[in-house]
Amino acid sequence: MKMEEIKAVFLAELKQVEHSEQLSAFWTKFLGKSGEVQKLMGGIKNVPKEEKKDYGKKVNEIKNWAQSLYDEKKDEIDRLMIAARYAKEAVDVTLPAKHVVSGNLHPLTSMKYEMIDVFAGMGFDIFEGPEIEDDDHNFTRLNVLKDHPSRDMQDTFWLTEDLLLRTHTSPGQIRVMDSRKPPIKVLVPGKVYRSDSDATHSPMFSQMEGLVVDENITLCDLQGMLDQFVKAIFSEDVKTRLRPSYFPFTEPSVEVDVSCFRCGGAGCSLCKGTGWIEVLGGGIVNKKVLENCGIDSSKYSGLAFGIGIERIAMLKYGIDHMGKLFENDIEFLKQFKA
Ligand code: DAH
Repeated sequence: MKMEEIKAVFLAELKQVEHSEQLSAFWTKFLGKSGEVQKLMGGIKNVPKEEKKDYGKKVNEIKNWAQSLYDEKKDEIDRLMIAARYAKEAVDVTLPAKHVVSGNLHPLTSMKYEMIDVFAGMGFDIFEGPEIEDDDHNFTRLNVLKDHPSRDMQDTFWLTEDLLLRTHTSPGQIRVMDSRKPPIKVLVPGKVYRSDSDATHSPMFSQMEGLVVDENITLCDLQGMLDQFVKAIFSEDVKTRLRPSYFPFTEPSVEVDVSCFRCGGAGCSLCKGTGWIEVLGGGIVNKKVLENCGIDSSKYSGLAFGIGIERIAMLKYGIDHMGKLFENDIEFLKQFKA
């Protein structure tokens, strides 16, 4: 092509360029290594010697002219592309956000955490034992002898003659005392199993065992700790009362009642008119149990308690049937959103 012709085609084709792919094809055709402008440069060898200088100058002018028009076009296309991208990616920040439904902890889980928190504040740490236990840990070494009623076939899920689903978290006491030396201050939370089912019982439920072994541990320590516990869980003005009771693994043994946090002790349906609600069992660790674990009972004494986590949750939240805690009814569970 001649120079004038190239200029005309260049201008005509430049007009047609609308996007970056076309632009790069256009560049290759005119300004690339084997493009039209380069070809003009190469044509210099066929130009008579005296015209070479003039020819070279014109080709250079064309080259600069083409390059600057190309640059202008490129700027224009870049701007258009960016504007198109912005338009496409625009976000309307005034649109309402999508509603994300968030869940909440199961009331038993949060109850357990809440209880652990209170005792952790008193220096307790956590130990977790197995749910399948043997007779020795679940009964014998806790001083529950062979003819004790809690071994009855109706209460215990036996797996073999020796293995069973633990009926309480108390075997955790034995496992802790077997593996640690006093001073001991542990909580053993976990699932326990009994063949029992009605409004306030379920074949699987959860307990939290507490065990403290040190020198000079007395019932006063037990009452002080449990007093703190019920105040933190129920309310500051709740009082505790210890009643004598019997457990093979504690001596003396107590049932712990709290003053009714609904009626303040006057008597209502929750406390069955008595003003008091039974919340847990505990006592001073029976010397036989300490000795069964190789702990010198003339030097050390211990306190222990066992709390039913469902029971505390039912009392605290006014739940009348334990089954509600296991049915996974979402409408029920939603009420415990913090
Ligand atoms: N293990 C008892 C139960 O399941 C609860 C209990 C009572 C635990 C007294 C204790 C305790 O550690 O000292 O009914």
